[in-house]
Amino acid sequence: MNSSLGSEIDSFYESAPPLKERDSIMEKLNEFVELNCKGTKRVVCVTSGGTTVPLEQRCVRYIDNFSSGHRGAASTEYFLKAGYAIIFLYRRATSQPYCRSLPDDPLLECFEATDELNIQVRQPYSEAVKRAIRDHHAAVAGGFLLKLPFTTIFEYLQVFKIAIPGRSFLLLIEYLVLYYEQMLQMVAVSLRSLGPLAMFYLAAAVSGLLCSLEKHEHKIQSGSGPLDMRLVQVPKMLSVLRTEWAPMAFCISFKLETDTKILLDKADMALRKYKMNAVVANELLTRKEVVVVVTDSEKISVQRDKTEAGSDVENPLVKLLVDRHSAFIKDSNA
Ligand code: PMT
Repeated sequence: MNSSLGSEIDSFYESAPPLKERDSIMEKLNEFVELNCKGTKRVVCVTSGGTTVPLEQRCVRYIDNFSSGHRGAASTEYFLKAGYAIIFLYRRATSQPYCRSLPDDPLLECFEATDELNIQVRQPYSEAVKRAIRDHHAAVAGGFLLKLPFTTIFEYLQVFKIAIPGRSFLLLIEYLVLYYEQMLQMVAVSLRSLGPLAMFYLAAAVSGLLCSLEKHEHKIQSGSGPLDMRLVQVPKMLSVLRTEWAPMAFCISFKLETDTKILLDKADMALRKYKMNAVVANELLTRKEVVVVVTDSEKISVQRDKTEAGSDVENPLVKLLVDRHSAFIKDSNA
């Protein structure tokens, strides 16, 4: 990394707001690991939602990455059903496991007051609410579902800083490229002892560009003419996940494109470049109907079962990946 970029990143890093939840994240992660990382229990880290890049230090505006979080939330439910313990690393205010069938606009639609003191669930929602509460509470109370929220890249940065206190700052700057993986890194290192029993299912849409470091302190004034902005490209650190943090784990990344002509080639490139076990290729408009799982020997089309009401593509996708994970564990132990 050249030194001017290094110092840019340096000041960017220093301007990051402190992570308030640092100790509690560590504590929750340790508890989760203690409870789940034993025997043959499998653990999957599901990332979900998009990261933001703030444009101002006192942020009013930001650049967002598209993702509703539906894929991550739905997949989490299916992984839980398949017996996995889950670390759900998600963007705040995106879809949550077990809440997909509830109206979010507004959630209060589900309830009504029966008198001054009591509320009840409205009839059309009662089954869905009961199911959501029962399944969600069972997963959380059982310790199988740990939810860690994020919004900005700063959170990743701060968590990462905690995670590698011994490293020199320059090295840390190089690791800025891990902006998304700051939290992921903590998770990955915690799960390292699981070896092949750990899976990474990286459905999050992560900012590939950071706002230039001469970031505005106050709200940018739209009346002051056109806005010039520099965005710094950030290399993906999937290969570090692969080689350093969790070298034995089963790793699935995603590739989203809007041009179907380049989708499979891009997925194939990602598979080789980052040494993923599989890349799930999806196109923006059809992503809820079909995905293609690209491995080094196959391209498997996975479709939603249109004959079944309420079906989704995550159900067959997770089934396929769980099978592939089983084969991977068997091979690794052979
Ligand atoms: O949330 P939904 O609305 O249901 O939509 C789901 C989805 C379309 C967002 C999802 O299926 C999907 O495709 N997610 C990945 C989007 C994408 O192409 O991201 P990317 O090109 O920025 O990254 C490719 C892969 O590398 C992703 O698996 C990403 O999680 C991972 N990555 C990227 C950058 C980075 N620094 N670290 C990463 O781990």
